[in-house]
Amino acid sequence: MTCQSTGGNGKRIYYFSDMPYRFRSAAFRVTILTVRKEMSVEDFVKGIPKAELHLHIEGTFEPELMFKIAGRNNVRLQYTSIEEIREACNFSNLQEFLDLYYTGAGILTDEEDFYDLTWAYLEKAVSQNVLHSEIFFDPQTHTGRGIAFSTVVNGIHKARADAGEKLGISTRLILCFLRDLDESAAMKTLEEALGYRDRIIAVGLDSAEAGNPPSKFHEVFKRAREAGFLTVAHGGEEGPATYVREALEILKVSRIDHGNHCLDDDELAEELVRRRIPLTVCPLSNLRLKVVDRMERHPLRRMMERGLLVTVNSDDPAYFGGYINENYLAVAKALNLTAEEIYTLAKNSFEACFLEKSQKDKMLKTLHEYKKKHE
Ligand code: ADE
Ligand code: ZN
Repeated sequence: MTCQSTGGNGKRIYYFSDMPYRFRSAAFRVTILTVRKEMSVEDFVKGIPKAELHLHIEGTFEPELMFKIAGRNNVRLQYTSIEEIREACNFSNLQEFLDLYYTGAGILTDEEDFYDLTWAYLEKAVSQNVLHSEIFFDPQTHTGRGIAFSTVVNGIHKARADAGEKLGISTRLILCFLRDLDESAAMKTLEEALGYRDRIIAVGLDSAEAGNPPSKFHEVFKRAREAGFLTVAHGGEEGPATYVREALEILKVSRIDHGNHCLDDDELAEELVRRRIPLTVCPLSNLRLKVVDRMERHPLRRMMERGLLVTVNSDDPAYFGGYINENYLAVAKALNLTAEEIYTLAKNSFEACFLEKSQKDKMLKTLHEYKKKHE
């Protein structure tokens, strides 16, 4: 048995990292020396309260729901079966994924479609003990095909409101500008968003990163901040560390989405640590889009050891083979994370979220109680 001590509050948490092969699937066990209770990593991850901070609602479009919505909208899909769509999720890079993602999103037409999509995700999130989710949406993907901005926002908003009431999940909404379009298109989208200031907490930047630096969106982010929106941006996923720096210095973001390549620039990493700028890391996305070649080489552990405020998220779970718990599990197993490290990731997710301090504190208390109960 290999033991790893996590220190913490005086008690020691161990996990078994060299269980016999036949136990490998459930090989990760959490044992507290004083109580000697054991729990599989699957159960520990499943039950731990967490926040999701990097989730594209269009990326939660499961093939089953795609066929259902395409059917009622009389849209012909280029795929004939669910299996065919799943097989198409074999990407070599971000652009190959985006091509499929925009095809899928193109089916969404009515308010009801956006409602059903959002509701399905929120039910899934609740089943994975997500207490709070900050959801990205890409209005330009829809307004560009003649769907009204209000149709998109109203459908998502109604599902959020119902889920808050019936499922008890807290949510916030983040509007992402498509960085492969020009700044004037983003500005037009921002103008539309101003009428929904109470429903949208922040603006972000997504889509094809290479060749589309954050500086391209200087003016629109300035305007968004003046209007009271918080700001985030994808950076350092396929793009270089300089894009992360631009997002920080020019767009003045509160969080970086992905941020993997920040490790290439020591000074930048140092600044992120010093300012406690969160990174919303997406392990399964990174694997599927070939940002990393093997999960065992994912930089998450290095990021944590560097002192970065990292969180684990699912990005586009319908396309990347897993929701938030599958992301936690994938890194826990590949990087041999201890229970204490998993706890730190969940704690980071509440620290990094955009809720008021009192709401964060409530969720952190629930998390702390979970930890205590499993000691
Ligand atoms: N849009 C949806 N998912 C994305 C990702 N991982 N990177 C950039 N844009 C996206
Ligand atoms: Zn993303």
